[in-house]
Amino acid sequence: MNRGCFITFEGIDGAGKSTHIAAVAERLRAGGAEVICTREPGGTALAEQLRELLLHSAMDALTEALLVFAARRDHVAQVIAPALSRGASVLCDRFTDASFAYQGGGRGFDWAVLAQLEEWVQQGLQPDLTLWFDLPAAIAAERRGAARAPDRFERQDTAFFERVISGYAARERAHPARFARIDARPAPALVAAQVAAVLTERGW
Ligand code: TYD
Repeated sequence: MNRGCFITFEGIDGAGKSTHIAAVAERLRAGGAEVICTREPGGTALAEQLRELLLHSAMDALTEALLVFAARRDHVAQVIAPALSRGASVLCDRFTDASFAYQGGGRGFDWAVLAQLEEWVQQGLQPDLTLWFDLPAAIAAERRGAARAPDRFERQDTAFFERVISGYAARERAHPARFARIDARPAPALVAAQVAAVLTERGW
């Protein structure tokens, strides 16, 4: 059986990626695919517990990096790899590019250590497509507004999110074939049209 497609959704907090995941799932299901929607950190009972710690407990940058990859290890082993090998498609709200962007770019954590963790945890598994919802940090901050109590990441300042954006841009330069940059500034319908165009281009 062919391996299903693995699509990840990335961007800074407030970029609006989550609203587009459901539309991509609908589209792939309409084409007859089994589609799993999941998220990181999270996606398994263990990884969801680690998510709670990551979003709400103070810790240093190495601990944070180890926890995101520990969560990812469980998620890949229990959910993502089995789904892809039975032919299902997997849509994941954030994946390893977020670790390079947030821990590497935002926190300034060692990129080479992240690359080593990536290799140990993923053993060559990479998304087929990464939709990067790119939005300037100041606009994202406005959109986040005061909708809910911010977590440890959402509380960061604009300079932090600018470094996160630079981290995503560096990952795009390193992996140009799988990255598709979506301009997240326009109205949701126009952003959705860009996403649809990327999927059409790839034959999905
Ligand atoms: P997010 O996916 O934005 O969830 P929600 O929309 O419910 O807030 O939140 C997860 C947070 O975790 C986000 O601020 C980015 C951060 N994160 C990392 O720092 N490193 C990672 O590897 C991942 C997957 C997420």
